[in-house]
This record gives sequence, structure tokens and C-alpha cells, in this order.
Amino acid sequence: MIRREFMLRTLGAAMSAVFARGSFGQTSSHAGMQGMDDMGSMPGMASMPSMHHGAGSAHQTGGAHAMTGSAPLASADALPAGAPLAMLRTLPNESREPGVFRATLVAQPVSRTLLPGHPTTFWQYDGGDGGAGGAEAGPVVGPMIEVREGDTVEIRFVNRLAQPSTIHWHGLPVPPDQDGNPADAVAPGGSRVYRFTLPPGSAGTYWYHPHPHQLSAEQVFRGLAGPIIVRAPDDPLAGWPERHLFFTDLKLAADGAIAPNYMMDWMNGREGQFVLVNGARRPRIAMAGDERWRVWNACNARYLLLTLGDDHPFAQVGTDGGLLAAPREGLTRLLLAPGERAELIVRAKGGGASDGASATPAVLTAALYDRRKMSMTMSHGDASLPPSPAMPLADVEFAPAAAGAAPRVLPARLREIAAPAAPVASKTVVFSEQMDMATMHQPGAGMHGMPAGMHDLPAGMRFLVNGASFDPARITLTSRRGDVERWSIDNQSDMDHPFHLHGTQFQVVERVKGGVVTPEPFRAWRDTVNVEPGEIVRISVQQQTAGERMFHCHILEHEDLGMMGTLKVV
Ligand code: C2O
Ligand code: CU
Ligand code: CU
Repeated sequence: MIRREFMLRTLGAAMSAVFARGSFGQTSSHAGMQGMDDMGSMPGMASMPSMHHGAGSAHQTGGAHAMTGSAPLASADALPAGAPLAMLRTLPNESREPGVFRATLVAQPVSRTLLPGHPTTFWQYDGGDGGAGGAEAGPVVGPMIEVREGDTVEIRFVNRLAQPSTIHWHGLPVPPDQDGNPADAVAPGGSRVYRFTLPPGSAGTYWYHPHPHQLSAEQVFRGLAGPIIVRAPDDPLAGWPERHLFFTDLKLAADGAIAPNYMMDWMNGREGQFVLVNGARRPRIAMAGDERWRVWNACNARYLLLTLGDDHPFAQVGTDGGLLAAPREGLTRLLLAPGERAELIVRAKGGGASDGASATPAVLTAALYDRRKMSMTMSHGDASLPPSPAMPLADVEFAPAAAGAAPRVLPARLREIAAPAAPVASKTVVFSEQMDMATMHQPGAGMHGMPAGMHDLPAGMRFLVNGASFDPARITLTSRRGDVERWSIDNQSDMDHPFHLHGTQFQVVERVKGGVVTPEPFRAWRDTVNVEPGEIVRISVQQQTAGERMFHCHILEHEDLGMMGTLKVV
């Protein structure tokens, strides 16, 4: 039985017990689960076995392990910290032709010892040469692809995993049949060539990761992701020293194994006990002068509200799709949702004691951000989990003396970004959730506990786009090539979801929440934007190439669970 049938049959059998939220909801409040206790009085509801269980009793049922996980995890300080930030390895160009970047990427299992004495099997991208891009060099991050506007990129992908896979070029304007769509999977042992040409104006900070049907979350959390930088010939910040911080999430069992996804991971998106920066926990960054940082959130689901502390402001100069029109100075926080990237200017003097000879060191931290994670309990007022605590990501030492010697001037204008043209069409994308709590609470529900290798998705939990789960055979929306469209991304669910669209960069026009319309205060190109519960984000978007494009929530568990649609561009 294929996975989707399994899920739908299970749902069908329990249809009278379906508890719907969002656009289907009997309740639209944030505390969406609180309606559950009242449902016992509804026809057909009284027999639901775990209907009135709070967290305590639910954990005594057979289903509890599948929800929260029972394998002991390594402690949050079990990985060594404090090493100098690792350099990302670069994928070597095998071509000698000007304007051509040619290379091989192999996805394969590798063994690495991060947890002392307990090797971990990761899945990792490596170059095909066994040399600088090869398996034994550098951290568990795919090698960096560094290319220029105008380059033709030709990458041979070799799948040495036991599952189908693809490589998706997140954010890049590549033709649909080269973009690693779920429909274009490469079988285990198979290979293919991806080929595309980078147009003028595409300079920016991108990444690549697998996108196979219902297997993207697992392949990314096992280590498959890597950075891409596209450079422009006229980059106004070309002279700035660059630092690259590629954030990934890791959930390790005490024996060094990568933990599987449990019910709670599927529901809220997986967050491990570790965030790695270039493959290591809490590295040390020693600034030598003012620097341009590129940061990637390649975590499955973890939101990174980046801060160096209130007395260490920084500037943002870029988003997913390259430089902003003008720097945003004086920021102390920047939210990077899963999938998003940014470019920052971090000053050597480090703020704070700016006139003195020394600046206090700072801790680059993912500050507390409440993305309204859901709980499985049904008691009143207890419907969401507390936000993940703040997490230190890296220790930063500044170099005020260097700043005094050679201050760098940040241009007031970085590039032209035209205001969005008037739209000729508009579209709405509604995110919602549907939870069948009875099915979810059944013993053995969820992926863990299923026969190994089946990769079943949990029954009873659906994440929807315009009222439906992803169906590979269905076109969700249709656009005409070249049309400027206004999309309204309407989050009617109870938690944050980062919206992502393939194949183009868009501009956020305005955000609407509680009837209040807030125009976006600056111009930027993005391919991913967070949408809070109850919020509508309006974007201006244009597709240039005919074919099928995916759009989805970039919490990869939600994407695998069906919070994805297909845009057909004609
Ligand atoms: Cu980063 Cu559809 O993906
Ligand atoms: Cu993408
Ligand atoms: Cu989501």
C-alpha cells in the first residue's frame, strides 16, 4: 500500500473523529486544541480513547513513545564546542572553459565522529574527485558551489543512498526540469546531470538540498545540504572579507545515531538538541576587521532569531536573492526562518565599548522566538508548547584596534530594486492544519514503530494548502509566464509556517495582521518568507519559465506531510 493511501484510509476510518483547525476549524483561536474537551459531548466523540487525556496520562499509553521519542538523547553539551569556525570546503570546478562550472556531487553515507567515542552515520554531499571536495575533507556540510552571474552550471548528481533523491537549487531561477522536483527523482544508484545558466541579477546566497517525495525532511536532517554563492561582476561589497555561517540542526541519540522523527517532530518540525555552525557546535569567531557575513538557515524547522546582544548592533545588507537596495543599520535581531538566508555587516569594533581599546566579546545567539509549536495534550489553555529556549550559536571576539586602523565605508545605496509593477493577476495560498487526535494517539502511531525502511508518515496529521494535501498528480495553481502577480499567503493555522516558492525571487509588499496593514519597510528579493498564524503576507511575484514549480512550507516535515502545492507556469 502506498503511503498516501495508507494515510487517507486511516483518515477515512476515523473521519467522524476528525478534529479540524484553521479553515476547517471549529475554533480559530490560537489555543486551537482547547475545543477538544468539549467534543466529548458531540456525537461519535465519546468513544475516542484518549480524548480526555492530558499530557501525563497520554505518556502512559503505548503511543507516547511515538510522539516524543524514547531513545535517550545525547546531552546538549555532549558535542565539543569552542573550536575556531571551520571554513566551508569549496566544490572544485572541473571545467577549463570560461563561463562553465562543471562538477560532480555524490550523496552518500559517511561516518564521522562528532560525539567523542560514538561515530555517527551522516548522509552527505561530496565532490566526485576524492580531493578537496571529497569525503574526508571538512565538516558535514555539502561543499560550497561558488559561481558567477552568466555561468553555465553543469552538475552531475550521483545518488549513493538507498532512497530516491534529487538536488533542488533553492532560490535559483533554474528551468523547472533542472530544479530537482519530487517528480524527477534519481533512483538509488542512479545519476543525472543538472544544467542551468545563471542570469544577470541573480547574485546572492542560495543553497542546495534534496527534494524527493516525502523524504526531504529525513535526507536533510541526516546531513544533505550545501551552500551556493552567486557573485556579481559589480558587487559594491566585493572588497569586504567574507565569513560564511551555515546553520544546520542535529538530533543525536546518546549512542551517536541520528534520531528518527517522532510524532512531535512531524507535527512541529524537527528540532535537535544541537545547532551546528559549519558542522560544529558553538565555534569561536575571531574578527580581524569589519566583515560581510552570509548566513544560511538550513535547519529542518528551527527558527533562528539571530542576535549578538542588544549592545552589539549589526547591519543587514542582503536577503535570499542578494543585496538590499540600502543597508538596514543598527539591527540587534534578525529572524531567519528555515530556508532563509541573509547577508550582514558585522563591525570589528563590535559596538558596546566602541571608543575603548577593547570590545566585549559577544555570543551569537538564536534568541527565544515563539513560533507557536503545538502540543498533543487536550487540556484547556495548554494547546501550545513553550518556545525553544535561546541557544548560543557561536562566540565572537571583536578586534577594535583593527577597526580603528582601516574602517570600511558601507555604501548608502547597494543596488537598484524597482518597486513591484502593478499586478495583472492575484492568487491566494491558505495554510491550514487538520489533526485527527484519536488516530494520532493510537499506540504505534507515527513513523517510529513502523517497519524499518517504510518511511510512513504519521496518520491523522495533515498540513494543507488551499484545503488539500499535496498530490503529485494535481496542479494547485496556474500562472502565465511573465505576468506580475500578487499572492496573498494566508496562514489560517495556529503556528508559524515559512512560505517558499521555487524558481524565482519575490518581493514582500505588505503584511496584514489583525486588520492592520503594514507595508514592507524596505525592498528585498526573497524566496522564503515567514507567515505568522493569523497573518497574511502579500508578495509580488513573476515566473519566467514554463513548467511546474513547487511552493510549500519550508518546515520540511510539513512539506513532506503535504503542505505543498504545484504551480503550473504556462
Ligand atoms: Cu528549499 Cu522546495 O525547497
Ligand atoms: Cu526551493
Ligand atoms: Cu509549516
